[in-house]
Amino acid sequence: MMLSVQDIHAGYGEIEVLHGVGLSVEAGEIVTLIGANGAGKTTLLKTISGIIKARQGQVVFDGTEIHRMRADQIVRAGITQAPEGRGILTRMTVEENLLMGAYVRSDKEITADMAATYEKFPALRERSSEPASILSGGQQQMLAIGRALMARPRLLLLDEPSLGLAPLMVAEIFRSIRQVREDGLTILIVEQNARQALQLADRGYVMERGNIVLEGTGDDLLNNEEVERMYLGRQNGTGAKSGSRRADPGDNRSGDAPDPM
Ligand SMILES: Nc1ncnc2c1ncn2[C@@H]1O[C@H](COP(=O)(O)OP(=O)(O)OP(=O)(O)O)[C@@H](O)[C@H]1O
Ligand SMILES: [Mg+2]
Repeated sequence: MMLSVQDIHAGYGEIEVLHGVGLSVEAGEIVTLIGANGAGKTTLLKTISGIIKARQGQVVFDGTEIHRMRADQIVRAGITQAPEGRGILTRMTVEENLLMGAYVRSDKEITADMAATYEKFPALRERSSEPASILSGGQQQMLAIGRALMARPRLLLLDEPSLGLAPLMVAEIFRSIRQVREDGLTILIVEQNARQALQLADRGYVMERGNIVLEGTGDDLLNNEEVERMYLGRQNGTGAKSGSRRADPGDNRSGDAPDPM
């Protein structure tokens, strides 16, 4: 077992958001977490990556308890997160953003990894010395993933990587995620785009109001009536809250309409 989350209680101030969450990820798996708006998915990822401290329960990564570690120690232990909303620094260049991802490293292979990242995302190479603000929404997402990879994680946490992207770009992001897994990484991905995420995943979990209510293989969940009704209703599987999120239909490469998210 690579990651084991057990009975996690966590929240903000007085409010408890996660009420005893448990899940696990085996090495080499892609595991998807789906759930409605506000269910606590981002809160769980932040708890795993140490941004939020659990009040109860434990997170074990490769046999080591990490739930009391600082966020930077958890990155060093081998977990990085590409945050919801991408979290890239739009005033810095593409290259500077990527280098930031390697901040915990001091080895000599950073340059080589940079080249590998550009290999994976050629659009980033073309714009390496431009400010990240000129990237399209999809390219910004690639940058967020590329930056997370620059820490050389073994476990990658992705929070809604397809959010706000046009369908073609969504497909490209999902292709990149498959590629990242083929490169040997283990992935825990939160997605509203439930159908595509479950198709990609080995296993999945459904979260409702701070609890895991269902788990199964990707296929089990795709064929589950309740999942179908709650999360797969729309034809393209964009889920219940897509109406409130702006799509980025242009997703053009001219750079004149960057997605502010
Ligand atoms: N910084 C914060 N301070 C206080 N409450 C917060 C904070 N962030 C999130 N919450 C609350 O915690 C609950 C869970 O939020 P969370 O962001 O984890 O949900 P989510 O499943 O990721 O939702 P979404 O699909 O919208 O991203 C929500 O009720 C939210 O309002
Ligand atoms: Mg979220």
